[in-house]
Amino acid sequence: MSHSLKASMIIDKSYQIAPVDERIYGSFIEHLGRAVYGGIYEPDHPEADEQGFRKDVINLVKQLQVPIVRYPGGNMVSAYNWEDGVGPKEERPRRLELAWRTIENNQVGTNEFADWAKKVDAEVMMAVNLGTRGIDAARNLIEYTNHPKGTYWSELRRSHGYDQPHNIKTWCLGNEMDGPWQVGQKTAQEYGKIAKEAGKAMKLVDPTIELVACGSSNTDMPTFPEYEATTLDIAYEEVDFISLHQYYGNRTNDPANYLAKNLDMDHFIKTVTATCDYIKAKHRSKKTINLSFDEWNVWYHSNEADKQIEPWTVAPPQLEDVYNFEDALLVGSMLITFLQHADRVKMACMAQLVNVIAPIMTENSGRSWKQTIYYPYLHTSIYGRGVALKPILSSPKYDSKDFTDVPYVDSAAVFNEEEEVSIFIVNKHLHESIDLSVDLRSFEGFQLVEHVVLEHENLKAVNTSAEESVKPHSHGISELQDGYLTTRLSKTSWNVIRLKNS
Ligand code: AHR
Repeated sequence: MSHSLKASMIIDKSYQIAPVDERIYGSFIEHLGRAVYGGIYEPDHPEADEQGFRKDVINLVKQLQVPIVRYPGGNMVSAYNWEDGVGPKEERPRRLELAWRTIENNQVGTNEFADWAKKVDAEVMMAVNLGTRGIDAARNLIEYTNHPKGTYWSELRRSHGYDQPHNIKTWCLGNEMDGPWQVGQKTAQEYGKIAKEAGKAMKLVDPTIELVACGSSNTDMPTFPEYEATTLDIAYEEVDFISLHQYYGNRTNDPANYLAKNLDMDHFIKTVTATCDYIKAKHRSKKTINLSFDEWNVWYHSNEADKQIEPWTVAPPQLEDVYNFEDALLVGSMLITFLQHADRVKMACMAQLVNVIAPIMTENSGRSWKQTIYYPYLHTSIYGRGVALKPILSSPKYDSKDFTDVPYVDSAAVFNEEEEVSIFIVNKHLHESIDLSVDLRSFEGFQLVEHVVLEHENLKAVNTSAEESVKPHSHGISELQDGYLTTRLSKTSWNVIRLKNS
């Protein structure tokens, strides 16, 4: 007799959360470590294109179908002079980069990054410096990038070889301005005021843009969530999104507790949503502020190594987390959490994209490869577009050090116009498989397409340039009969079950 655990779920066409904004599959490239130099850009690499961009990396990014990439920071943007990164490369200054204590040679800047984004079919989400600079630099930058011609900054762009404007639509008003590590840290009052005024000037230059205001750097900040409330109270009419950032780690090697951390993310999203709606009510406003979760990931593996890095070098290997299998499971659960909040989380950026806490790794002059976390990101980005459905789930639960009533099963489902349903599921149980029954009766005529599984005996297994030991297979055990899907979810596994109307 089988003693396997059981769970059940109903997924119904009409239990809809909201259309998925594809920008939740965004990512982030900061001038930090080897993200730019040695990551996306390496002119001497055998795979470099005519502009010095690595074609092997472009190919891996394109597979992910990343719709939007945040740039150029991150902490780096708070002391960045964007003018250093445009014009003839040989005239660009080498500067001390204060956030990460490196040398920035400015060989890649706004125009090159816009070119790279086009090559990977992504939009740019541009951040402006509200640390050391402010309204003037921000309005000049948007005139440079978005104004067609006939003015000082637009003509300067044209003289740099870019006749057409880049038309960047999404802009971040600074980065983590509450953080004491930020150059130009600001109180919520100070930040709210500069965000409002910079945003106002930027929208005067181009009224079609959308603006993201900084929220707290994470939920542990002493001023969370008052920082969000005060900022929005001041800048409500100028901004469109509030930013959330969160990183997790398994520092005490407690996988059960670690895999539950998306519950913290869920709580974070609910708190910020409530804060936005409180200010909306206070202002008697019709406008809704949505959430841009524009930095999220696992980040802890590289913390010790980073302390050994020599300051003031160009593109040292900073924040190079080597991700293991359990990290991929948590990343999968975090992506599921975004889908569960598709009505309010409209943008999200995995931080980051290449080499720096990233799904894609490279060797200088050498190979590139996929980290474990690449796969849940790939699967949700490719199959998770459409309308997010609300699975009604009944799952066995567990308690861990920081969480109670953690469902072993996490799930989200997306239904699209091509009449496909994708169900994303994590089984967090460390030892047991779970038999899941899914009531899919509203999807009459649908057939099972595939059941993809990411699993590994060893939670600490990693991928390297030489061997991809954590990779998905399509031999998941699932059966669809009379509108019910029965599936066996292996212990600690990421699952993608796809169905299509035949
Ligand atoms: O993504 C790495 C860093 O994390 C970013 O620069 C900063 O915004 C955050 O603290």
